[in-house]
Amino acid sequence: MPNKIWRVVDLLDWTSQYFQQNAIPNPRLDAEVLLGHLLGKSRLQLYLDFEMPVFQENLTPFRELIKKRIARTPVSYLTNQKEFMSLEFYVDERVFIPRPETEQLVETILTTQINTSQRLLELGTGSGVIATILAVHQPEWDITATDLSEDALAVAKKNAETHACTAQIKFLSGDLFEPVKAIDLNGETQFDWIVCNPPYIKKTESENLSPDVRDYEPEIALFAGDDGLAVIRRLIAEAPEYLAPNGKLILEIGDTQADAVRTLINAEPAYRSPKLIKDYAEKERIVLASVS
Ligand SMILES: C[S@@+](CC[C@H](N)C(=O)[O-])C[C@H]1O[C@@H](n2cnc3c(N)ncnc32)[C@H](O)[C@@H]1O
Repeated sequence: MPNKIWRVVDLLDWTSQYFQQNAIPNPRLDAEVLLGHLLGKSRLQLYLDFEMPVFQENLTPFRELIKKRIARTPVSYLTNQKEFMSLEFYVDERVFIPRPETEQLVETILTTQINTSQRLLELGTGSGVIATILAVHQPEWDITATDLSEDALAVAKKNAETHACTAQIKFLSGDLFEPVKAIDLNGETQFDWIVCNPPYIKKTESENLSPDVRDYEPEIALFAGDDGLAVIRRLIAEAPEYLAPNGKLILEIGDTQADAVRTLINAEPAYRSPKLIKDYAEKERIVLASVS
């Protein structure tokens, strides 16, 4: 970045061009989000302050952000922020960055069952977005959220605290249903909902992932064995033991996994026929299976 008086507009133009030359996928957007983050301004405010000079005290950290983005650090890890269903969440490299597709999973729950008090278990909560949004929208629900990663749980608790729902969510650490079993020795705990956005990428597909994902997001959040179904298979087999009568298992799945997941559910006598829900790109990405 040459030495000169930089205005907001010059910085945005220079940075987006530099990002473009380095094959960063959304060069202009990333430049705006990073500069806005550094200056404490929204993207709209940046446009209103186009002519404003940016001084050395901000240029030095901005250069650092540019370098990290060129090294493919995801923007959300640089800003420590990700919006999910219109709420702001803290994220860092300890957690998977919530994706817009997952909003549809939450919306499906909220539109399937509204208002009556529900017991809900979220497995693999990561940054805690699903559990927190459900708690915010349904203050009467009794929510338990788990993760195998203690690091992720620390982030999830921080987000629940920010959105004032720590009293409503019980956080447990451990492998899938193990932590629930551990606090419920008589096997009496049953949930109306079991929700999970599991890891579902084939280990063999690692090389095809974008470096932003492959090199930065937690491996444990991404990969599930050679066929990508290792966690989903266990969830489908183990969930009925923890579901109340008419309880529902709802999962996000990969865009090529619908047939395999349908077959797995149909092979478990505890479930009725599953419902596969399409995303906005017409791919079956959510599976909803009820028990009798
Ligand atoms: C794809 S991320 C989803 C995170 C968050 N729920 C979301 O939708 O943004 C999967 C999460 O499952 C957790 N996980 C992976 N294997 C697990 C297991 N066997 N038991 C519990 N959690 C697991 C990972 O640590 C990660 O936080």
